[in-house]
Amino acid sequence: MTTLKIAAYPGDGIGPEVTAEAMRVLSAAARLEPELHLEFTTLPWGIEYWKQHGRCVPENFLSIVRPFDAILLGAVGWPALLPDHETLWPLVQIRQAFDQYACMRPAKLYRGLKSVLAGKGPAEIDFVVLRENSEGEYVDNGGRLKRGTPDEFAVQTAVHTRKGVERILRYGFEMARKRRKKLTMVTKSNAQRHAYVLWDDILAELAPQYPDIESERQHCDACAMNMVRWPEKFGVVVASNLFGDLLTDLGGVLAGGLGLAPSTNTNPERNFPSMFEPVHGSAPDIAGKGIANPIAAILSGAMLLDHLDHPAAAARIRTAVEETLLSGAATPDLGGKLTTEQMGSAVLANVT
Ligand code: NAI
Ligand code: MG
Repeated sequence: MTTLKIAAYPGDGIGPEVTAEAMRVLSAAARLEPELHLEFTTLPWGIEYWKQHGRCVPENFLSIVRPFDAILLGAVGWPALLPDHETLWPLVQIRQAFDQYACMRPAKLYRGLKSVLAGKGPAEIDFVVLRENSEGEYVDNGGRLKRGTPDEFAVQTAVHTRKGVERILRYGFEMARKRRKKLTMVTKSNAQRHAYVLWDDILAELAPQYPDIESERQHCDACAMNMVRWPEKFGVVVASNLFGDLLTDLGGVLAGGLGLAPSTNTNPERNFPSMFEPVHGSAPDIAGKGIANPIAAILSGAMLLDHLDHPAAAARIRTAVEETLLSGAATPDLGGKLTTEQMGSAVLANVT
């Protein structure tokens, strides 16, 4: 019997609403596996914690989370009360401290849903964007000078390391073995000839080590266009931090929208716990109404089980989601009338 210890960090807004459904579905899927037991510990962090303690997480929150096998995050943020850079800061720290350098976001259109792209269906829209999550354009590296004067200027310098680029590409190649055997690396090396040519060089070095995978390079602008006209030509898309951020929003909308889009922050070596979360945020506009779509959170839970080597349980969840969507069950974001809990129950009924 394997017991997986999972830290549930529901967070703010719709985070707790969708995480509750994800935990119900995960527990049901685990019960059907004879050797698997899930043990959830809910961490009451976020804006309510801040109201009592003056901070969103305890001081030693990293050491609290460290012993868990994985983290299931809902969403954080409540901009009316606290600026986002404060509420979201613990997430940034978790990603960095636990070296969660691979951010994986599948863009899979489930059967029963209509894409925003005319003439493209589930057979065409099924790729994964793998975003470098630890360096690149998003390192906190720069400054502003001569503030408030006509000569004011800002400098922000990206950092791309050989180690960082190589490890995300290797992870992408491995993943491509299970997905269309195709890897597309996205940069902008025609315009930025230092950092992104390093990416080009490393891809050229690695490609011969994966002769079973077709690899190619695309510039980010062209890739955005190609994802819209030929989504079927993508398998695994590996991109730097900034470009991955842009392309995952595009992938999300192609695959049916925010209510459905799951993601991971993965430490592939498993030296630390990885974190699994819906792409969406805390959605203050619908929080407390019980109408958020829990599918993104539920599918994030399936990715958690995959990462922890329980693909059968993960597959049960994905199949249940597929059957649920195919049956026409829908929350308001998908044009339906189901509540969050009803949608969770619909999925639960299909977990067999
Ligand atoms: P959001 O993703 O929370 O909401 C955008 C729009 O999508 C809203 O109209 C919302 O109602 C809708 N939506 C989102 N998830 C939905 C779901 N599951 N079902 C149905 N509709 C859904 O993004 P927004 O409004 O820009 O940010 C709100 C807060 O969330 C901010 O504080 C932001 O910083 C935070 N945020 C947190 C993230 C995280 O915890 N990782 C990620 C993104 C945003
Ligand atoms: Mg984004």
